Amino acid sequence: MQKPLAGKTAIVTGGARGIGRAIAHRLHDDGAEVAIWDIGIHAHSAEGLDFTPRHLNVVDVADLPSVEAAYIETKSVMRSIDILINNAGINGPVEPVQDYPIDAWHKVLAVDLTGVFYCTRTVLKDFIDRGSGRIVNISSMAGKEGMPGIAAYAAAKAGVIGFTKSVARELASTGVLVNAVAPVIAETDLFNEMTPEHISSAMARIPMGRPVTVEEVAALVGWIAGPDCTFSTGFTFDISGGRATY
Ligand SMILES: NC(=O)c1ccc[n+]([C@@H]2O[C@H](COP(=O)([O-])OP(=O)(O)OC[C@H]3O[C@@H](n4cnc5c(N)ncnc54)[C@H](O)[C@@H]3O)[C@@H](O)[C@H]2O)c1
Repeated sequence: MQKPLAGKTAIVTGGARGIGRAIAHRLHDDGAEVAIWDIGIHAHSAEGLDFTPRHLNVVDVADLPSVEAAYIETKSVMRSIDILINNAGINGPVEPVQDYPIDAWHKVLAVDLTGVFYCTRTVLKDFIDRGSGRIVNISSMAGKEGMPGIAAYAAAKAGVIGFTKSVARELASTGVLVNAVAPVIAETDLFNEMTPEHISSAMARIPMGRPVTVEEVAALVGWIAGPDCTFSTGFTFDISGGRATY
C-alpha cells in the first residue's frame, strides 16, 4: 500500500528530541523524506532518532540568517519542501510576572513566536509559487487558557494561534494549508525547565488523568500534514485529554 506521504519532503524544527523527534519519526514512517532543524543537533545528535533523516541542520529558529541559510542548504539536498512543522520551543523560567526576568521574556518570545514567523516566512514564497504545502505549528494548551508562572510561554503560544489564523486566511486560496496543534503537558525534556508544582498543577487539569504521549501528538500532526486533511486551515487542533473548552 502506498504510504500517505510518499514522495513528500518535510522540515521539522526542534526535531532532535521530544515531540519534534516523534513527529519526524512519524512523517518518515508515513513515507516522507525528513530534514531536522535543531539548535541542539550536536548535543542530541541523530543517534536517538531510530531512523536516518535525509538532512540534519544546526539552526537557531530565532535567528533569521540561520533559518534562511538552512533553507538553502536543505533545498540543495532535498530539492523542494512540501511540509514545515514549526515545533522548536522553550519553556523559559517559571516565575510570576512581577519577577519574570526581562531577558527570559525576550528569549521565549523570540524562539516560540518569532521563530515560527521566520521559518514560515522563509518557506512561503516557494509554497505559494508551487500552489501547495502544509504548515503545522505546535502551540500549547497554555496558549489557549493561560498558565500561571509561564506568562511569556503562554503569550508566545497564544501568538502562534493568532499567527496561524492570519497566515491561513492570507493563503486560503493558494493551496497552502496552515494549522496549529495545542497539546497539554507531555513528558519530555521540557519538564526540566518546569517546577514540580507547575507539572502537578498542569496534570491535575487533564480530565483523562494522564499526560499526552509524544506519539499521540505526532499522529495528529501526521494527519494534518497529510493528504486526507484538505478542508481545514487556520485551525488549532485540540489534543488535551478532554481539557480544552474550545
Ligand atoms: N512537553 C510539553 O509538555 C509540551 C506541551 C505543549 C506544547 N509543547 C511544545 O512542543 C514543542 C516541543 O516541545 P518538547 O516538549 O518536545 O521540548 P524539548 O525541550 O524536549 O525539545 C525541544 C527541541 O527544540 C530544540 N530547540 C530549542 N530552541 C531552539 C531554537 N532556538 N532553534 C532550533 N531548535 C531549538 C531543542 O534543541 C530540542 O531538540 C515546543 O514548541 C513546546 O512548546 C510541549
